[in-house]
Amino acid sequence: MAKDQVRFGAMEESLYERVGGLAFFVDLVNRFYEGVETDEILRPMYPEDLEPGKEHLALFLAQYWGGPATYQERRGHPRLRMRHGEFVINKRARNAWILHMTSAVNAMEMSDEDRVELTAYLEMAATQLRNR
Ligand code: HEM
Repeated sequence: MAKDQVRFGAMEESLYERVGGLAFFVDLVNRFYEGVETDEILRPMYPEDLEPGKEHLALFLAQYWGGPATYQERRGHPRLRMRHGEFVINKRARNAWILHMTSAVNAMEMSDEDRVELTAYLEMAATQLRNR
């Protein structure tokens, strides 16, 4: 009985908790932005000051994966499609975004299972944001 409760508890744990909380997402986003900074397709889409965007993306991902709702408190409903409407996200831009995000994910320490789940989500979300 006690064993089952432990197992149930483990199943309830979110990816956010398993990977180590907000620090993981801050790290991930910093790595991702290292790619963005030198990308000739993506860099021009981002504002000069990259810091606010880094924070928003880290908070969004943390919230999505089971962390606190800080993103929502600060930014309101994500409405990602609307927020990306002003950027030309064609196949090349989507692929560039995925390239940098995948190499960031692959540089992080996490279980294979979580890596697969996170990668699949990010690819799916990026594909949905294509608007050209
Ligand atoms: C498909 C390629 C993508 C491109 C080219 C792109 C580009 C951008 C750009 C230029 C910004 C503005 C950054 C700033 O204002 O500093 C932004 C913001 C953001 N993006 Fe993306 N993005 C992409 C995919 C994604 C995906 C897949 C997600 C989520 C999984 C995402 C989540 C966000 C969030 C949360 C913000 C901040 C929104 C806010 O202002 O609160 N983006 N993105």
